[in-house]
Amino acid sequence: MSNILESELLPITADLSAKNRLSIGGCDVRDLVQRYGSPLYIYDEATLRGMCRDFVDSFTNLYPRTQIEYSSKAFANPSISKIIDEEGLSMDVVTGGELAVAIAADFPPERLNFHGNNKGREELTEAVRYGIGNITVDSFAEIDLLSEVAEELGVRQNIMLRLSPSIDPHTHLLTTTGILDSKFGFSIETGDAEIAIEKAIAKPSLNTEGLHFHLGSPIFELEPYSEAIDYVLEFASRMRKKFGLELKKFSPGGGFAVGYVTNTLPPAMGEYASEIVTAIRSACDRYGLDEPELIVEPGRAIVGRSGVAVYTVGGIKTIPEVRTYVSVDGGMGDNIRPALYESEYAVVPVDRPLAERNHTVTVAGKFCESGDVLARDVDLPEPETGELLALPASGAYCLMMASNYNMQTRPAVVLVNQGTSRLIRRRETYKDLLASSIDFD
Ligand code: LLP
Repeated sequence: MSNILESELLPITADLSAKNRLSIGGCDVRDLVQRYGSPLYIYDEATLRGMCRDFVDSFTNLYPRTQIEYSSKAFANPSISKIIDEEGLSMDVVTGGELAVAIAADFPPERLNFHGNNKGREELTEAVRYGIGNITVDSFAEIDLLSEVAEELGVRQNIMLRLSPSIDPHTHLLTTTGILDSKFGFSIETGDAEIAIEKAIAKPSLNTEGLHFHLGSPIFELEPYSEAIDYVLEFASRMRKKFGLELKKFSPGGGFAVGYVTNTLPPAMGEYASEIVTAIRSACDRYGLDEPELIVEPGRAIVGRSGVAVYTVGGIKTIPEVRTYVSVDGGMGDNIRPALYESEYAVVPVDRPLAERNHTVTVAGKFCESGDVLARDVDLPEPETGELLALPASGAYCLMMASNYNMQTRPAVVLVNQGTSRLIRRRETYKDLLASSIDFD
């Protein structure tokens, strides 16, 4: 393997420390674990800010009226939201809980968007009260519910409609959202989208500003974006003629991939931007539409590379001619992605990142499930109990999908920058685990 420190997988600040170990953001990773405990999630501020700027530059250089909207489901945390705000991005939330995180960070309401296929009355009320900039409506029931809520609060709420364009982005079935057989969005193919537009436009308390779709995630191909954009904009032009729909805003969602392993790297950000912008411009031209404001919704690509998970090796079990299992102190409780999607991760030996990798091992978690494997058949130096292993590209979705299975506490999170570290989420305690059990807390 070429030098892992120079790969696209680790944060941009990854380096060798003075002690010849992995360092991130100028901090020696073993020192961080000594201070904050293991397992530990480390987020690199320079990578996070760099990704925000890359997105803004790649898109606005080609299409100035673009708003980059961080999809906070990838990692919702008030300290991260503050950085997203400082970088001038918008943010989307999909539950009242994610909205609460945004509110805790004083995120400007006009730059918030509420997604989700089944928002409840309380969630919508909270969002409208906060003065949320946009709500992306996803069902007929929601058109009625939101129009009631907005009317009660005396607000004319800006909305977009989520459409389903029946296009397959060729990613894992469980993370595919824009095909016909999907719970998300109004289908253009079945005629629902047309009915939804007519209904939404007729509601006096709703201001229908645009259309949205999201194909899935992660998407390593470019063509599904342009194919879907053409299809949806052609539909938009028909809806303008039929119902007077004015397409002020348009979003082709998120889904931009990141590198998890060195042999499967995503297209460059500029390539995604150019594919999307070219498709919008040519479709607007073809169908006689004014160019709308573009909203792009990356989640994974903003935080994925910034985050690294670090584990401590415990038991090592060799089954001759079969496999060597290297067990670590975390696993599917903090990262269920390999078990759920067969996602692959690279593994970096923190104490000797550049050592020769002459052993093939499987890194297993500590949870009581045979499927609790973090990385299958990866090459490492001969594993040792007590050593630290880092999994790059762990910044998106791992901790957000974490659970307390086996009553395991969830890891701490630190933010590193220029040699300093700051705890942004403390490790859970057993008291936290018991806090919701009535009479035993
Ligand atoms: N916009 C909408 C409407 C979405 O549903 C999503 C993700 C995004 C944007 C952000 O997608 P991204 O840029 O992060 O790919 N748990 C899965 C991913 C599920 C994504 C759900 N929706 C995983 O761990 O891979």
